[in-house]
Amino acid sequence: MRIGVAGVGRIGTMHAAHLASLDSVDEVLLYDPVDGRAALAANQLENARAADTVDDLLAVADGVLVATPTDTHPDLVRACLAARKPVLSEKPIAGDLGAMTELIMQIEAGGTPVLVGFQRRFDPAVVELRRRIVAGELGPIYHVRATGFDANPPDLAYLPTSGGIFRDLMIHDLDAIPWLVGEPVVEVYASGSVLVDRAFADAGDVDNAVVLLRFAGGAHAAIHAGRHDPLGYDHRIEVLGGKDSVAVGLDPRTPLTSLEPDGPQVAPDAYPGFPERFRRAYLNEMRVFADVIAGRADNPSPARDSLVSLRLAEACERSRRTGTPVRLEGTP
Ligand SMILES: NC(=O)c1ccc[n+]([C@@H]2O[C@H](COP(=O)([O-])OP(=O)(O)OC[C@H]3O[C@@H](n4cnc5c(N)ncnc54)[C@H](O)[C@@H]3O)[C@@H](O)[C@H]2O)c1
Repeated sequence: MRIGVAGVGRIGTMHAAHLASLDSVDEVLLYDPVDGRAALAANQLENARAADTVDDLLAVADGVLVATPTDTHPDLVRACLAARKPVLSEKPIAGDLGAMTELIMQIEAGGTPVLVGFQRRFDPAVVELRRRIVAGELGPIYHVRATGFDANPPDLAYLPTSGGIFRDLMIHDLDAIPWLVGEPVVEVYASGSVLVDRAFADAGDVDNAVVLLRFAGGAHAAIHAGRHDPLGYDHRIEVLGGKDSVAVGLDPRTPLTSLEPDGPQVAPDAYPGFPERFRRAYLNEMRVFADVIAGRADNPSPARDSLVSLRLAEACERSRRTGTPVRLEGTP
């Protein structure tokens, strides 16, 4: 099988390397408009070559991964649909609810699979957590608690176009947690502060935030997110149910120091960033994409689900700005 990669920046280069490592992938074709970037990335891999245009990818690839800046996703996804090539698009598939809804209608009318790169859905530990919840092994869910701390803020020039902490950083947990709980969110409350860098305030954003989600059945999720953690990149989800209490992201590389005599100390190889923390997830994401292309797997991250997290992110932003809870009615 041949897979095309459009955009070989930060995340596209990593995905290309993971694709090239799969037994089921014979060749990876890379395209990037920046001169020499695709060739440079292809030279690092045994079974990759650079393509001159997106159309070259579409002509020969069995599926295409879109890892370009967000504003280019809808047009590239539409080009793949027109060529009937399965797509894995990085998140978000579109920047706002209107554009996303229009694109989803086109995707669903065509029937070509489109996966969205919410990597938690491909993370083996998160997949196992969902299996246990669905099988009833945790009993009724009482609480979900998520931690999403970046080690360092992004390039400050990126802030004005990032969409803010909820759409940019917390969107992953706003996708994963309703997917895990399996119920609609009926109310959102969000609060945020600028504690790391005034540049966030200048961009109308915050650098630390807490969100409280209330689910239809009465369970709550609390999500803590921040742009600076001096010990490393920390992402965890903990679920307390009536029969069991489990965590993902709690392992010897978790950047956290316990003050208990026998508790874990922060390790020298604590996760420095998301590529290391989610390595297994990203690798599995590419494996699943190849399996969906081959017709061997269902799509665990369909485009329509992206409406849930974007709608929640927008409600969080509204709640933070107004200081009041936001009720959500109906399905997106
Ligand atoms: N799932 C995740 O964990 C995760 C992490 C980081 C970024 N992302 C998403 O991935 C996307 C890319 O982010 P990034 O940090 O890699 O950005 P980046 O700027 O490092 O890379 C984007 C690349 O796309 C290229 N490009 C621009 N227009 C193109 C086009 N029309 N066709 C082909 N290539 C084009 C650019 O030249 C650049 O090399 C964003 O949508 C971002 O939200 C997801």
